[in-house]
Amino acid sequence: MFDIIKKLAQTFGPSGNEKKVAEVITGLIKDKVDDVKTDALGNLICVKKGAGKKIMLAAHMDEIGLIVSHIDEKGFLRFSNVGGVHPWGIVGKRVVFENGTTGIVWYEEDKDDIKNLKFDKMYIDIMAKSAQEAEKVVKVGDMAVFAGDTILQNGRVISKALDDRIGCAVLVQMALNAPETDNEIYYVFTTQEEVGLRGARTAAYGIVPDMALAVDVCMTGDIPNCKPMAVRMGDGPTVKIKDGSVISHPHVKDRLMDAAEKNGIPYQLEVMQHGGTDAGSIHVTAGGIPSGGVSIPSRYVHNVAEAVDMNDVENAVKLLEAFVK
Ligand code: CO
Ligand code: ZN
Repeated sequence: MFDIIKKLAQTFGPSGNEKKVAEVITGLIKDKVDDVKTDALGNLICVKKGAGKKIMLAAHMDEIGLIVSHIDEKGFLRFSNVGGVHPWGIVGKRVVFENGTTGIVWYEEDKDDIKNLKFDKMYIDIMAKSAQEAEKVVKVGDMAVFAGDTILQNGRVISKALDDRIGCAVLVQMALNAPETDNEIYYVFTTQEEVGLRGARTAAYGIVPDMALAVDVCMTGDIPNCKPMAVRMGDGPTVKIKDGSVISHPHVKDRLMDAAEKNGIPYQLEVMQHGGTDAGSIHVTAGGIPSGGVSIPSRYVHNVAEAVDMNDVENAVKLLEAFVK
């Protein structure tokens, strides 16, 4: 499964530019599902037909990144954020555009002021010697993503873009396993989650499932001096109780906990104070859809390098398979 994770995480796909990720996923699972389609917003919807309930499983394809707002006279790229990016977290980091152009992020503020750093005091240096040279390879509106390898170390994955390629990988693995069920399973790979849970809204409206789950990452409370949270990396996938965008439907939450307990799958309960997931827009679509979530506990979410535990990833697949049966 690590190979699938690596392939997905290394594919370019900031919000609104998820096409390559959709192509990789299509290539991996098209023979294992009955129908594959893409809607107007770019959501990739793969259906395994069945006579029972319509269950939608959503993982977002987009990753955080930067967008070029203008190119200054010296050839430095000025930018804004795509999704939740901390200015102080990206200083000195390497970014890469879709065409392979690589840049280094830096800033022009006084060092003492770095905690107040704003994007308008920052730039990307792509080694262009003039604006004209820069404009030959990058234009206003182009997006860059963070660069970094995907590695497995001590049973844990370190990589860029695990939010939410790890969720995509879980759904891909599940589609490949093809769990036996009468229910109709919609593996939905959504767009533009990081800029406001947008793709999932139209996808859910198009499907009108009987219930839905967002499969995404959640924060943990197991690193030094962090906000307290009852989730630890390696202790199992989580059953979402709430996040900043949704309170899980009691029936969905209970069904998940039942599935975990009956099958001896470790799980944790997730109350995430900040941040939303696709469940946030799905549950208020089409007259209301009972929704919840399964998350992979992840350290350093929305940073250049994020981390997950492979046991949690594999148990998330098991939990979802038990849930849809
Ligand atoms: Co995110
Ligand atoms: Zn996410």
